[in-house]
This record gives sequence, structure tokens and C-alpha cells, in this order.
Amino acid sequence: MNKISLIDPKNEYNDWFNSPFYHKLYNNRDYSEAKKFISKLLNYLSLKKNSTILDAACGKGRHSIQLEKLGYNVTGIDLSENSINEAKKSENRNLKFLIHDISKPLNIKHDAVFNLFTSFGYSESKEKDVQILNSIKQNLKKNGTGVIDFFNIINIKKNLVPNDTVTKEGIEFKISRKIEDNMVVKNISFIDKDILYSFKEKVNALTLKDFKDYFNKTNLDLIKVFGDYNLKNYDPNLSERLIMIFKNK
Ligand SMILES: C[S@@+](CC[C@H](N)C(=O)[O-])C[C@H]1O[C@@H](n2cnc3c(N)ncnc32)[C@H](O)[C@@H]1O
Repeated sequence: MNKISLIDPKNEYNDWFNSPFYHKLYNNRDYSEAKKFISKLLNYLSLKKNSTILDAACGKGRHSIQLEKLGYNVTGIDLSENSINEAKKSENRNLKFLIHDISKPLNIKHDAVFNLFTSFGYSESKEKDVQILNSIKQNLKKNGTGVIDFFNIINIKKNLVPNDTVTKEGIEFKISRKIEDNMVVKNISFIDKDILYSFKEKVNALTLKDFKDYFNKTNLDLIKVFGDYNLKNYDPNLSERLIMIFKNK
């Protein structure tokens, strides 16, 4: 059997997100989940119709597509070429996608910048995290609104399942999880067509306190924290998500 290991320690952005297997494993994180969340979020934010929104690390564009349907002018960016090619099938006058690194500003100011479903914290240094937040800020108009939707690390640590197996679309994914060097590390291995694949996903184990420190460093104002996609208030011990709403001063 051939063995393929798709982990390049030198490359911070790993190919996992660009592989079709990522989308097979997470096929439940779909458009209906995005639709419900986006409608609640936009109801709360009350952005004017035609506002410009940047979906930073948009994946295949499930949130961008919903945002455009609600009447916003949306640009989605992501480093995954395959995801952007898929997203581009939905492009129209008010919905555009491009391959772009979120750590580099686009030099276009938006009314809002969203970073959704744990699309932050993949770099192995806090300086790079701050650089990404700075780039988000550069993409925001004065008084523009930012949203970062991250996991709640307290909940992750409490409920960490070290090993499990998930079968999706005929592939048995063996997943192991651990916290190492203050990162949540997930190893995903599986066999497809006689090839053994092994991917690694590493995300910084960031707390609300870490984000508050980042917001201070980048001169952004944290104004509200929600704890799930129904926009319940954040409870450190119970919430699944850490959804932070902030403003560019
Ligand atoms: C967990 S996925 C979420 C994607 C999308 N927001 C969603 O909800 O479907 C994280 C995404 O972050 C993207 N990503 C990670 N680092 C990036 C970077 N530096 N620049 C652009 N995209 C990045 C990955 O390619 C991946 O699509």
C-alpha cells in the first residue's frame, strides 16, 4: 500500500483544507448551518443593505453565499485553491471570491470583516496571529464591524475525545486529538483507494483572554461575546463557541 503523509512542518498552511477529504469529513458543516447562523448574526448586527463584507477564510463560501442572498456586497478570500474554485461557481455581481492569504491586507476597506468557524490561530506564533488581526483591521472602515467565531478552548479541553473513528462517504477517518504546546492538535488518517493518508490540523489553544490581548495590541474594541450559533451569551464553562464582535476605532 502507498503511504502519503501530507504534513509539511515548514509550511504553516497545510494542504488538509485544500483536499477533498476535508470537505468529506466535515460535510455536516453545511449551508443550512451557515444560513441559520448568518441570519441571526446579521439580525443582531443590523448592517445596512449593500454594506460591503469580507469573509476572511471563506472556505467554499457557505457564509458568503448566504450574506449575498441577504443583500450584502460580499468578497470571500481563502488560501485553498480548490475551495475558491468551488466557491466561484456561485459568483455574481455582488459576490466575488479570490485566493488570498488573510494575513495580507487587501487594501480595500469593508463595512464588516468576518472570520468564521475556527479560521484563525493556524500559525504557530502569537505574532502571526496579531498580524492576521492587523490585516483584518486594515480591511475594515473606521467604525467597521469585525466578527471572529472560534472554538471555546475551555469546552474543548473538558470534552476532548482522544480517539475516534468517523465514517463519511465510505471513508473511515481515524481521528486522534490532543493538546500539545498550547495547540489543539488533530491527526486524521484514513485509506482511500489503497493509499494511506495522514493529515494534521493544529490550532492555537486561544482563550478569550488571549483574544482580548490581541484586540488591545491592534487597537480594536471588543463589544460583545456570544457562546453559540443561536447567539446565547458566552459562558466559559458551557459554551461551544467563542464568537467575538468588535469594532475598528
Ligand atoms: C475550518 S475552515 C472554515 C472555512 C469556512 N469559514 C467555513 O466555515 O466553511 C478554515 C479555513 O481557513 C483557511 N485558511 C487558513 N489559513 C488561512 C490563511 N492564512 N489565509 C486564508 N485562508 C486561510 C483554510 O483554507 C480553510 O478554508
